[in-house]
Amino acid sequence: MHIDIITLFPEIFPPIFNHSILKRAEQKGIFSVQFHNLRDYSTNNYHSVDDYPYGGEAGMVMQIEPIYNCIEDLKQKRSYDEIIYTSPDGELLDQKLSNSLSLMENICILCGHYKGVDERVRQNLITREISIGNYVLSGGELASMVICDSIVRLIPGVLSDETSALSDSFQDNLVSHPVYSRPQSFNGWEVPKVLLSGNDKLIKQWQEEESLKRTKQRRPNLL
Ligand code: ADE
Repeated sequence: MHIDIITLFPEIFPPIFNHSILKRAEQKGIFSVQFHNLRDYSTNNYHSVDDYPYGGEAGMVMQIEPIYNCIEDLKQKRSYDEIIYTSPDGELLDQKLSNSLSLMENICILCGHYKGVDERVRQNLITREISIGNYVLSGGELASMVICDSIVRLIPGVLSDETSALSDSFQDNLVSHPVYSRPQSFNGWEVPKVLLSGNDKLIKQWQEEESLKRTKQRRPNLL
């Protein structure tokens, strides 16, 4: 999978992409990412990419021209399965959407800013709008990082233990069961005995029951 990210702040991405699973995915050659500075596609000497909204409200709007130029330029090199715009009023990101995006070859993400983008971008250049939650961020950069992280870990071959993504919370509309590690007893707080039993069938059954119990308690809407 290749992801192109169009942003006003390309310099804030490398620390996230150069660590952990995103980095491993890149090293394995399963995933690649490029950051594109929207200002490089500005058509004026000041490299500005925003202007006042028609109608006279407060705030600035991201203009269509630099975005169009950037997307057209990128489309010369790749044909995209989705061109995503990050926006608080987009479709809510969930595990199902992450799963389907993880099967794609090429994705482009435009990070929103200011008051938003000229509506003609949304109508004509974007194929999907995604929100990461019902709150407003100052820009789409964090949202695009969240989208990338949630989808890249699902690409086959990225996680060394393939089954670990399958037992993630939400993967079958259940949150995941509790987990424990050594020591067996700490401060008098014990690991559930069943996990020490060596009986795989009983352990699996316990995990499924705990998963269901937690989902009922914490996320009943998933059931
Ligand atoms: N931009 C600002 N807020 C956002 C959100 N919640 N999700 C995606 N993009 C955003």
